Formats: sequence, structure tokens, C-alpha cells
Amino acid sequence: MSIVDVAQAPAQHPISEPAPWWRQAAVYQIYPRSFSDANGDGLGDLPGITSKADYLHDLGIDAVWLSPFYPSALADGGYDVADYRNVDPRLGTLTDFDAMLDALHTRGIRVVVDIVPNHTSDQHAWFQEALASGRGSSARERYIFREGSGPDGALPPTDWVAAFGGSSWERVADGQWYLHNFAIEQPDLNWSNPEVRADFLTTLRFWSDRGVDGFRIDVAHMLTKDLTEPLPSQAQLDALPRDGMHPMVDRDDVHEVYAEWRQVFNSYDPPRTAVAEAWVDKARVPLYASPDGLGQAFNFDLLEADFDAGQFETVVRDNLTLAETSGSSSTWVLSNHDVVRHATRYGLPQPARDDSGRPARKHGADWVISGGVTPVLDRPAGERRARAATLFMLGLPGSSYLYQGEELGLHEVAEIPAGDRQDPTFFRSAGTDLGRDGCRVPLPWETGNDGGSAFGFGTGGSHLPQPAWFGDYSVAAQSTDPLSSLELYRSALSLRRTLQTGEHLEWIPTGRSDVLRYRRPNGWEIVTNFGTEPYPVDRDDVALASRALEAGSLPGEATVWFGSHGTD
Ligand code: NOJ
Repeated sequence: MSIVDVAQAPAQHPISEPAPWWRQAAVYQIYPRSFSDANGDGLGDLPGITSKADYLHDLGIDAVWLSPFYPSALADGGYDVADYRNVDPRLGTLTDFDAMLDALHTRGIRVVVDIVPNHTSDQHAWFQEALASGRGSSARERYIFREGSGPDGALPPTDWVAAFGGSSWERVADGQWYLHNFAIEQPDLNWSNPEVRADFLTTLRFWSDRGVDGFRIDVAHMLTKDLTEPLPSQAQLDALPRDGMHPMVDRDDVHEVYAEWRQVFNSYDPPRTAVAEAWVDKARVPLYASPDGLGQAFNFDLLEADFDAGQFETVVRDNLTLAETSGSSSTWVLSNHDVVRHATRYGLPQPARDDSGRPARKHGADWVISGGVTPVLDRPAGERRARAATLFMLGLPGSSYLYQGEELGLHEVAEIPAGDRQDPTFFRSAGTDLGRDGCRVPLPWETGNDGGSAFGFGTGGSHLPQPAWFGDYSVAAQSTDPLSSLELYRSALSLRRTLQTGEHLEWIPTGRSDVLRYRRPNGWEIVTNFGTEPYPVDRDDVALASRALEAGSLPGEATVWFGSHGTD
């Protein structure tokens, strides 16, 4: 066996000092409204999270990332923030936040909160003031207001299309229009306005002072804009290169914002961390992940890849190289609150791809539209592949971001009646995309749903309907089963701590195009068989496997870890 390749990310910290926690963390994303409901109003809350602190500790994660828990009219699942420095009263109070933070910190779990700087809610005091103050006011200058086009300005200023469908402009009572790149209820902020910039510094300090460890930055690539008249058409916007000078996305000048934020982060001990949600060309990701900027950036490539050895290898190679360029560590994601859960994706046929190699259409969207009928979901295959992909990911150098419920091998919920749907995508896409509610259905904690217990989510039902099969995937059902997905995650996350090692990876040839094998510096080895034929392995120090080895062979669609504790 020869080692053909070494990918190595440079350590950005002096050898004598321990690596910062975030470089190789397992971060668990909580969507607070769907995690655990302590007060029985059908909506998850912060005391609910506190009540599950032991569960989170036993799961073995290093940090939680909380999707927005701020006051919100829920036009976009909380990503429409009405007050950045408070807690939605339906989710608790600031005192509840402090209690939750303390419960998690006491158990060695760090806390990352979501910051949504591209847009506020239309319920935010600033936007309400802008509406009341009229054209030309300083209140309107915090947002992006323009006169309309056409006779009497009755048409939107441009033909721009919002991310959730429909026009990016909405008209207000006095005839002006405001820009919203997402839902109508999410007016874009004007990042040329110093008051906007100063206010977000206050927000970052507010949460840092309370003790949060880091921030996840929503739509980090869209804050700054060049809206010099005449404004381009949508076709012109689409045709412009994304080279840092695009009027709308990934502008070089956004990094001036993050350089300021970095000063705030570094004024704390330990420095606060940040991770960018930045949908930008690969080559530009390191700008966001730079230690002078946000410090880390999401990489969604695994989430868009098929369960395919070639695709996985390319993703890992590319992203370790990018991490090396930025000096950050790589991130890995298989599921989050915006996509069809990976156990389901992997049980559906592979998606068609566009010229750039990305899925031409959101993977699983058609299955959701069919109510989960077509194409036929192969649940066992999806779960088998999900387990294998997860163990592949958790062995990689860098940070793995896990989404609540994936530890249960949970599937997407397709059977949500139209009247229960909440996602703005559903309301704005004319039936072409039912949206993201199916991965946001409240978690099943208990096997039964008697008396409105919502499978242990809370005594007041659940704000999105849970299907009958949820009980089989519940925490209670799995906690007693050593072969369950939950126990696999627990074992993997626990072992990952003891096996974790330098941020290096060596690819080891396997002689098969459907099998990947890599080795970490301490001898920890990860082998994934993406095919269906068993793969003979030459080590017997199995630390963990997603399927039991048979006669010295790794079965199909499975991952094995070899290694012993503390072999660094
Ligand atoms: C990205 C978030 O992940 C998504 O849930 C949200 O809808 C958009 N940003 C807009 O804030």
C-alpha cells in the first residue's frame, strides 16, 4: 500500500498552544422552534433546549449553533428578525437564554448564535419608522427605497426576482418601493449607512458580552451593494462576472464590514468565532474564511454531492486546498434547515445536474411535491448511505456541522398539508417548490403521540404536523438499540474526540473507483464503500463501523473507522 497524496492544512496557531476549538469541532445546529417545547404552546423554546442539555452532552457535540430565536413574525422561520438583541417571547426571555447558555457551558458545549445582517423583519422598529417617516427621511436611508418605474412609478424599479420568487421590490403606501432579496417581510438593509454598521457591532458585543462563543452569519455575501443608477436588469445582473465588483453579490467591499467585526471578535478572550454562509465562487470562499475576516466559511459541496466516491473525493480535495489558502479549517455539511434531509436524498434517484455540475433542481423537491410518493423513496438505502456518509464526514479534518434530527436518521416529512405549510418558498413559488418545512418538523423524543404529546416534543402539539412514523425514529426508540442511528452518532462523536488529530489527510489507493480510504496522522483510517460489492480490508482494529464487517470485508454502502484511542 503506498501513500499517493497528502493534503495538509497549515496550523494557524503556535505549535505549543492548543488549536482553537472551532477548527475541528462537531457543531450541532438547533432550529429552536422545532427542538423541544417546554411550555406546551406547540413551539420549541429556550427552556426546552435547556431541558435537553444532558442529551446534547451525551450526544458528544462540541458546540451548538442556534438558528434565530429572536422576536420574529416568522415570515421566514425566524430569519426575519424584529429585534436583534432580544428573545422571542414565545421562546423565552433573556434570562432563559442565560440559563440555557450556562447549562450548555457547564457541560462543555459552546454556543454559536445566528446573525442575520442582510435584512431585518418588516416588523423591526427601524422599518416601521421608515414606513412612517416618508421619502427622503433618514429612517428610509437605513433600507433601500427607490421610486418605481413606468407611468406614476407604479411598476417596480427593476425586474429583479427575489430568492423566494416574485419581484424583489415591494411598494409602500406613499408609492416608493423597497428592496427585499428574500421574502417581502425581509427588507434589505443599506450597508452604506454607518448607522447600520454601528448597530450590528452593538449586537455582536451584546451577545459576546452575554458569553456566546461565536456567530453564524446569514447570507454573508450580500450585505454591500452598488445601486448606482441606472440599475441593471435581472438579465444584466445574471451576466455580470462575480469578481468582487458585482452590484449585488460577493462584493470585495463586504470584507471591510468583516474586518471591523473581526476587531470586535478579537477584543474578547477567547476571541469570538464566526462562520460565513456565503454562496460564492469557490475561489472566493477564502476571503470570508480569512483570519482577518469571519474566520471560517460553510462549504456546502458535500451536501450537493451524490453518494458517489468520485464526487466525495473531489469535494474533499478542493475544500482542503481552499482551507489551506485561507488558513482556516474546512467545514462539512450534509444536512441543514434549508435542504431535504440527507437520509431522504440518498434514498432517491440522483438529481440531474446543470453545466456547472450542481443539481439542476433542489434534490428531493419533486418527491416533496408528490407528497412523498414519486420517485419511490428507498428508506433503508437512504439510511444506510446516510450513516456511511456521516462517518466519512466525521473523520475528515475540519469542522462538521450536524443538523438536529440527523442523529436519528430522520427522513424529510413530505406529508404536510398545504394549510400547515409555513415556508415563504411555498407561498411564492406557485407550486414549483413546497419549501423547507419538511426538515423543520419538531423532533420526536418519545415513541408515542398519545394525548397530544407530540412524540415528547411538548404537551401542546407541534407547530408542523409530525407523521405517525416519527415514533419509530424517536430518541426513546433508539436509545435502547445499539444498532440505531443515534447510538452510531454517539459512538462516533465520542470516538472522534479521542481519535482527533492534526489537520492532515492522506489518500490511500483502494484499487476500486467506488471505495475511498484516507488516513489521519495518528493512524486513524476511514474507509467508505460507496458501491454494493463488499470490500476486503487489511486491518482488524475496527473502532466503529456503520455496518458490521463480514469475514474481513466492508459491506456495500458502509464506512469503517480503524484506529485506537490516543495513538497520536
Ligand atoms: C439563509 C438561511 O439559511 C435561510 O433559512 C434563510 O431563509 C435565508 N438565509 C434568508 O435569511
